Amino acid sequence: MIKDDLLNVINEIYGKSDETVRFFQAPGRVNLIGEHIDYNGGYVFPAAIDKVSTVAIRKRNDSIIKLYATDLRYVVEADMKNLEQYKNLKWGNYQLGVIDQILKKGLKIKGAEFIFDDKVPLGSGLSSSAAIEVVTAYAILQLYGYKMEKMDIALLCQKAEHEYVGVKCGIMDQFASVMGKKDHAMLLDCNTLQYEYVPVKMDEYSIVISNTNKKRSLGSSMYNKRRSECEQALSDMQKKFPDKKYLCDFSYKEFLSCVDEIIDEDCKKRAEHAVCENLRVLDSVKALRKNDIFSFCKYLNLSHISLRDLYEVSCKELDVLVENAWMQKDVLGSRMTGAGFGGCTVSIVKSESVETFIEDISRVYSEVVGYDASFYVCNISDGVKEI
Ligand code: GLA
Repeated sequence: MIKDDLLNVINEIYGKSDETVRFFQAPGRVNLIGEHIDYNGGYVFPAAIDKVSTVAIRKRNDSIIKLYATDLRYVVEADMKNLEQYKNLKWGNYQLGVIDQILKKGLKIKGAEFIFDDKVPLGSGLSSSAAIEVVTAYAILQLYGYKMEKMDIALLCQKAEHEYVGVKCGIMDQFASVMGKKDHAMLLDCNTLQYEYVPVKMDEYSIVISNTNKKRSLGSSMYNKRRSECEQALSDMQKKFPDKKYLCDFSYKEFLSCVDEIIDEDCKKRAEHAVCENLRVLDSVKALRKNDIFSFCKYLNLSHISLRDLYEVSCKELDVLVENAWMQKDVLGSRMTGAGFGGCTVSIVKSESVETFIEDISRVYSEVVGYDASFYVCNISDGVKEI
């Protein structure tokens, strides 16, 4: 169905052509636990979700890239010979950043026409940008006959975000969008890039995502600031532990033994979050493997408290959703997910109570915040693919 629709759109927007049209899809992700530690060499535990970015693509015989989104309804046209000039585009810069990296790798591609149908809510903390980057990279590489390792695609997209968009993101989002597997979350060691699929069988529980609908943009948010606070903390701690490369290399005991080296009070809090969140990921996954959802969720709750009080990336809207979820009898766990400062929460809710949960939380949210939150029950899905 979506293919027929996008085929019509591509012919309507760019005119008919003899080139074959191909279709690709990449998902957003929900991070179950392990927040703000991918760039600190820690473990994260994301899963790909059934909100996706879909692309229709066909070749051009020149150096022009054309981009169009079904919701935005305008065409971005860029010449690959001079990609530097489009860095500040409001929309299109993620895609062009990816093309830029492909060219920098010396791969020979020509132009292409893209139609995007993006169903990962923008700026929601569900990695809409990674879905766009990954689907762009995968589609154009396939179109021009390149078979790149999946992990390399994730790394290429991350580099595009660093160098073209200017956000110093970790690897988690691009990794999850590339590697996702139906009904599994991924335990990724962001230091070694080793990963394992872990089945997420919640029996009578569902994963519910609540969206604050508070828009945030990573670039303008405090994301890069948090990252540099962590670097500062690490360099202070290295005075005692010169061999440690990342905050997440520290045990809690080691952290305590050098915490006084950290001069700045905020940096101290950031480091404590990183060290403890990493340990929480490992403990929570251990619990999940034993099917102990109750303990798994306890760690989710602790993760939120730490993000709120130590890492300080939560906000009133996220706290209203999470703290009210905690008060519901059939909710085992709830926390913010993604970079924070807005975006979404993830809650583990007894399936038979999901409707009541949504009714109750949305009423309280609208009363306190003044506008509506939105909700959906999330299914864990596969990563990028041709459809
Ligand atoms: C964003 C980044 C990720 C990660 C999360 C926070 O989604 O893109 O790399 O750092 O924030 O966990």
